[in-house]
Order: sequence, then structure tokens, then C-alpha cells
Amino acid sequence: MVASRVLVRKVSRMDEMLLANRTAWDKAYQAQQLHAYDEMSAEAATGVTLVASERELLRDILTARPVVVHPQSDNGQDDIALVQAGAREVIGVDYSETVVHAARRRADALGVACRYLIATVPGVPLLDGCADLVYTGKGALIWMPDIDAWAVEMARLVRPGGHLFLHEGHPATELWTWDLDEPRIRPDRSYFGRSFVCDDNSFPANGAVMWQWTLGQTVSAVIRAGLQVRCLEEYAEPFWRMGDIDAAAFRGRLPNTFALLARRPAAP
Ligand SMILES: C[S@@+](CC[C@H](N)C(=O)[O-])C[C@H]1O[C@@H](n2cnc3c(N)ncnc32)[C@H](O)[C@@H]1O
Repeated sequence: MVASRVLVRKVSRMDEMLLANRTAWDKAYQAQQLHAYDEMSAEAATGVTLVASERELLRDILTARPVVVHPQSDNGQDDIALVQAGAREVIGVDYSETVVHAARRRADALGVACRYLIATVPGVPLLDGCADLVYTGKGALIWMPDIDAWAVEMARLVRPGGHLFLHEGHPATELWTWDLDEPRIRPDRSYFGRSFVCDDNSFPANGAVMWQWTLGQTVSAVIRAGLQVRCLEEYAEPFWRMGDIDAAAFRGRLPNTFALLARRPAAP
């Protein structure tokens, strides 16, 4: 009796945090989206957001004209780049109504094969095995309070023989300061921390709570979900620079991103 009451209280606290995060994202997008839309359309059309290492790792897969599902698709710039690089269709999924509407408007304006769903991850209303490729990352995992639930959802969406590709901020980056002269370790962070509140000067701010997953926890969750890891790479280049900042931590000595490519075994 006592145990179940404790569980109910814990679950509702988590729901509250997830709802608050969703509101934080939507507010941040509302503040940013409209004036940035034209600029992002132009950038999206160049495909510049799909970086060289991603193109290299995905080359063979994109050559086969995959159907791609992109959980946490943000403003859809990568979706356009994926279509330009060979994807037959990209289905973006994000829980922010504001950003999904903007991504949809841009895709329609450019006439690219991208469509969008407003939905929460996990729990995406798409059929099992609907994707040849699930493409995600660039600030996706830190919004997941349960790494196993995330990995099971990614594996569910991939068809047998298909792939999951994750290009993500390296979990160690949460430790670095963005000082210009030299990188320092933040006294308020631990590589093995569980969660923290988004800095006020970061995005989306608005008190959003983020969760940390070590590289080991992420890779193990993907394996537990039944996927076979084909490649795990670490890079010095961050996927994002707040205000184009040139922090010393970004100059080649420290890991700032990683990429993981995993395959769902083909059906027997
Ligand atoms: C930093 S962006 C991810 C970047 C994006 N993958 C890209 O390639 O540009 C994080 C996105 O995840 C979305 N998000 C966060 N938690 C989510 C959840 N549980 N379900 C769906 N979307 C979520 C946010 O609305 C936001 O658009």
C-alpha cells in the first residue's frame, strides 16, 4: 500500500517534468521561430546541417533511398538534407507544435518529401518497423528520462535489416566550460550525474530539466533493445555552438560529439 502510493507520486512528478519541458521548448520556439524562419529555410536548402562524418557513415544506406523516421526533428533542417542526400521520404516527429508547424511550412515551400507528426517520444504513433533508417540526435537524448524506453522505441521503429543512426552531443561535454582561453571542468557537473536544469543562457532554458546518459549507458541500452552496433565514433567538433562561440573546448583536444550506427537483425 505504502509502496504503491510512493510510486504514484514519483510517476506524476516525472509527468510534470516532461510537460514542463514540452512547454519550455514550445515557448523557446515561439520566441525564436518566426523571425528565424526565412534564414533557416535558406540554410535548410543547402543541406549544410548534415555534416561530412554523417554523410560518410550514412552513404550506403542513403544510396538505397530509405524511408527515414526522425524522432525529435526540431525545425527539420536535417530532414531536407536527408532527402537531398537520397532519402525517399523523411517523417519528422517532435512534441512542439510550434516547431512542427514551421518544419511543415518549410518542407511545403521547398517541395521536399518530408512530413511531420506532433508526438511524444517514446510513444510515437507510427507502425512497428516502418523505417529503413531512424535518424536522431543533436540534442535528443538529454530529453529522455529513461534510456531503455528510448532505445526500445528506436528499435521498434526500425524494420528488420534497417538501421538506427544517432549523431549526438558527447556526454562528457556537459562537464566543459565554454571559456575562450582554455577548457575548464565545471564544478557543478559530474559525468555520472543523472539530471540538471538547463542553464538560463542556453536553449531552451525556461527551467527545462535534462537527463545525462554516459556513452556506456547509451550503447548498452541500444544493445539491450536488440540492435547490433556497427560503428561508434567520437569527434572533437560540437554539433552546435551557442551563438557561434569558439570555446577552447571545441578546438580538437576534447570529445564533443559521437556517432552510433546500429542495425536491427534481419528477420530469420
Ligand atoms: C535540440 S532539438 C534536437 C535536434 C534535432 N534532432 C536536429 O537534428 O536538429 C530537441 C528537440 O526534441 C524535442 N523533444 C524533446 N523531448 C521530446 C519528447 N519526449 N518527444 C518529442 N520531442 C521531444 C524538442 O521539442 C526539440 O525540438
